[in-house]
Amino acid sequence: MEEKQPILEVKNLKQYFKISRKFTVKAVDGVSFKIMPGETYGLVGESGSGKSTTGRSIIRLYKPTDGQIIFNGQDISGKMSKQEISMLRTKMQMIFQDPMACLNPRKKVMDIVAEGLDIHHSYSSQKEREQKVYDILELVGLSKEHANRYPHQFSGGQRQRIGIARALIMNPDLIIADEAISALDVSIQAQVVNLMKKIQKDFNTSFLFIAHDLSMVKYISDHIGVLHLGHLVETGTTEEIFSNPIHPYTKSLLSAIPVPNPHVEKTRKSLTYDHDQSDVDYTVGTEHHVGGTHYVLATDEEFEKWTKQ
Ligand SMILES: Nc1ncnc2c1ncn2[C@@H]1O[C@H](COP(=O)(O)OP(=O)(O)O)[C@@H](O)[C@H]1O
Ligand SMILES: [Mg+2]
Repeated sequence: MEEKQPILEVKNLKQYFKISRKFTVKAVDGVSFKIMPGETYGLVGESGSGKSTTGRSIIRLYKPTDGQIIFNGQDISGKMSKQEISMLRTKMQMIFQDPMACLNPRKKVMDIVAEGLDIHHSYSSQKEREQKVYDILELVGLSKEHANRYPHQFSGGQRQRIGIARALIMNPDLIIADEAISALDVSIQAQVVNLMKKIQKDFNTSFLFIAHDLSMVKYISDHIGVLHLGHLVETGTTEEIFSNPIHPYTKSLLSAIPVPNPHVEKTRKSLTYDHDQSDVDYTVGTEHHVGGTHYVLATDEEFEKWTKQ
């Protein structure tokens, strides 16, 4: 049987930053994973573990120090022509944590969402451009009227929808969502996750879903990779990671999923990951602290209740 080709394959990716004559930060240090068409890969890890750097290397905001990034069968880790970069910027899109930071406050939603179309001249008339924006706004649950407003006139959840619309209008094969919902209220997070799932079903889009905790990752990911200080310490299907976590760092992340119900919260147990007792060699210059907070896992029923509130 012929095996399907992954949409993205990351092989032994290294991204180092030289921060002074003496010091180099190994932000990403030998990371490998792949994403199949229409699938979501959840990349989790605490702050500073190298998640954003991984995403930014993949979309080629950096030149990778070493390793390979293969997108749609094409190696994109080396030197790229302007044309290739331009192509990449349509087929791969990124959604950020703080949409306010990447939505120009002086521009109307119409122009923000149409920016990619403008850059790539993807329409033949103003009417077509307008219609494309209206269609995509409707798809993400906004309306035509919203096109004439400015970013500050929207709520956080709505702004994130604008960010998604802006990415989607290019009809990408892969969307990198870097903590795209972390700043939102939990009920809004669930709405945005549901929107991403719907998009995935309708368009077979792949997602690299980056998050610092596992709570929403569970509901969107097919596979999960746990990143710690630039290393993937554990990977597996979502089912495997949740039912049988092996690495202590994964266990501590799992224990860090907050429960919405205050009665359950009282009985939360704590799990802290002891960095020194792990068998991973962290030859990275920075130290990070994990855990210290008390949490317990949320069940599917709890999540259901939680999203319907
Ligand atoms: N441009 C950069 N220059 C120097 N160090 C960086 C740069 N970007 C990230 N780092 C460092 O790399 C590590 C990983 O950062 P990052 O990828 O942002 O982690 P995360 O997104 O998981 O919080 C951190 O120690 C951070 O300080
Ligand atoms: Mg980050």
